[in-house]
This record gives sequence, C-alpha cells and structure tokens, in this order.
Amino acid sequence: MSARLVAPVAEDTIFFGGGLPDPTMHPTDAMTRLLTELLAAPEAQLLGYCHGAGDDDLRVAIAQRFSARERSDVSPDQIVVTNGSSGALSLLAAALIDPGDVVLCEALTYPGVLATFRQMGARIVAVPLDGDGMCPGELAAMLTQLRSERARVKMLYTIATCQSPTGTVLNEQRRREIIDIVDRFDILIVQDATYADIRFDNPFPPELITLAPQRTVHVASFSKTLAPGLRMGWAAGPPAIIDVLAQMRTDLGTSRLVQRMVARLIAEGDLDRHLFHVNAWYRQKRDVVLDALAASCGAHGSWNVPAGGFFVWLVLHRAGLDAVEAAGAQHGVGFFPAPYFSAGGTNVPGIRLAYGELDRGQLTERVHRLGRAIAAAT
Ligand SMILES: Cc1ncc(COP(=O)(O)O)c(C=O)c1O
Repeated sequence: MSARLVAPVAEDTIFFGGGLPDPTMHPTDAMTRLLTELLAAPEAQLLGYCHGAGDDDLRVAIAQRFSARERSDVSPDQIVVTNGSSGALSLLAAALIDPGDVVLCEALTYPGVLATFRQMGARIVAVPLDGDGMCPGELAAMLTQLRSERARVKMLYTIATCQSPTGTVLNEQRRREIIDIVDRFDILIVQDATYADIRFDNPFPPELITLAPQRTVHVASFSKTLAPGLRMGWAAGPPAIIDVLAQMRTDLGTSRLVQRMVARLIAEGDLDRHLFHVNAWYRQKRDVVLDALAASCGAHGSWNVPAGGFFVWLVLHRAGLDAVEAAGAQHGVGFFPAPYFSAGGTNVPGIRLAYGELDRGQLTERVHRLGRAIAAAT
C-alpha cells in the first residue's frame, strides 16, 4: 500500500484501489459443481502434492485455448503452472537474475514485480511509455547506452496488453519494432499478461510469444478472470527455460484439485462463457467511469479509453498530485498516484482509476468526488 493512503481521511472515503475482479462475479456455480464432481470420485493423487510443471490436464487445456485464440503453437510441455502470475515472476527472477543484472521495464509498472526483481539484486531501468505503450525508439537508445557501459541486460519485462497502471495496449507495429530491437541485443522478453483476458474490443494485436516464440516467456493468471484466491497462474516459453522453472521450484507445486477444476472450466467452455459475460460487465463499468470523467474532470485532465483491463489512467493538466491527494482525503476519495507505480525516470501527474472490483452504483460518485478534489486543488 502507498504510505500516502494512511493519511487522515474523511470517514466514508472510497478508494480507487487495486486491480481486482468484481467479487460478486466469481463463477461460483460452475466451481461448486466441478469441485463436487471431482471430490465425489477422487483420483488417488487429487489431494496429493503436484510437483514440477503442474497437472497435465490443465497444461493441455491452457495450451489448446491459448494456441487457438492466438493462432500460435504453444504445446503443453512449454507450460508451467504457478502460484498466480506472481509465482511465475518470482520463479523467473530467481532463475535468471544475478545481482547487478539490468531488467528493463515500462517507467510505470506493477510495484510487486519491482520488489521481486530488486530482491534478486536487479538494477531496474525504466523505459518511457506513452498512450500506445512502451516507446521503441527510447528502448533502442537505452540498450545502446547500456551496451556501451557493458551492463548485463537480463530481460525486458512488459505488461504489453492491458497495461497497469496506464491501461494501454501496445500496438502491433511497436510490438514488431520491440522484437527487432531485442533480437539485435539478444535479450529475453517477459510479457506479463495478467489482465490480457479482460478485453472489450477486438481484435487485439498478437501476443509477443506468438511473434517471437524463441525469446519470449508469457506469464498469465486466472486471478482476474476466475478469482485471485485460487492462486492459479502459468508461464509459457521456450522449453529450456520452462524446464528450469519447474525443476527449481521449492513450493511443492499448486493444488491439483484447483488445477483440475480450472482445466475443466477451460475445456468445457465455462471460462470463455464467463468471460463473455463479465467482460461486458467490466465494459459497462469502464463506460460509467468515462462518462463521469467527461462530466466532472474534463477541464482538469485527459484520460485513455482502455480496450481491456481494469484501469483508466487520468493525467492531470494543472493540479499537483500531492495537492489532489490532500484534497481527496477531505472530499472522501482516495487513489493510487503515479509514484506508486514508478520504476524511475517519470514524474507524470497520473492517477489510476481501477473499476474492476468496485460497485457499479458508486463509480459515478467516486469520480465526481475526485473532480471536486481536483478542482479544489487547482
Ligand atoms: C501486472 C500484474 N502482474 C501480476 C500480478 C499478480 O497476480 P496474481 O499473482 O494474482 O496472478 C498482478 C496483481 O495484481 C498485477 O497487477
């Protein structure tokens, strides 16, 4: 949590908090049915440990769904099931990063992964991003500079699809440019696709693993689509890397019971039916936020129209973030400001408006309170 959020606040303060799914929308009926069926006739190992790369049924289901959607060719033996996508990122960091190694990432990114990389002694280098995602020209210039310093650049970490906090989707041209650049500098890409299944508009650009299968590890999660408490995620990539991740893990695996349930949710079509339903719901919430912004913040800032994910990114025109936070405390609204997500090198006055988890009925009021706070701070 940002230390800023513990400042004194109005009693009924409402926060634009984390990147969480709507807790009233978890597919509990399908989960209950499947868990009941699985437990009614348990296989010998259903409640035992599930070491290594994970349950075969789930790896097959993930590979088939992903390959069909992406028109790519990811096979089950290229997949390791992990404790959420954060579990995959921790394994990757432990496997690949030596103290002093450089990890490049978007200048605004997921704070959890910065902590993970720093625990391994990484030097984080922030690449500028704009409304279309990471800027390839800046990336190339930074890599040239790092090469001249003889820095060991270990990976490029990117939330290319439905970025957090900015909500951008890296466009296809930039994806191809970035792949050309990392090819030239021989660097691994780690794409964090945690929000990539929350999408409102089609088509989306191809994922990086589809464009560059030899040098991309794709990290994904069921936290935002099914429920975070399942602790279910996965990584796909070159078998040599995936095998290392599976062999080096010391967490004794993830629950086979939950893996089997998720495998059937995928294979029997429940996941995609659920996504069809919830993505329409999240799209409505996004639109409520956009309408309320137009009504109350038009003079104060500009924002994106996210094609997916849980975040609208509001950039203030004049007011300073500290002043808006202080005024927000009085007007009963809190938020995560840009510095919370900063990997360095940016002082954009941005505010992340996360709408996934929030009650739709309260969204308009939240944005209007924010508008009043910004007006008071300007
Ligand atoms: C960008 C991003 N990556 C990874 C994670 C970790 O998600 P999980 O471990 O629940 O899959 C989060 C959590 O919010 C996130 O926002």
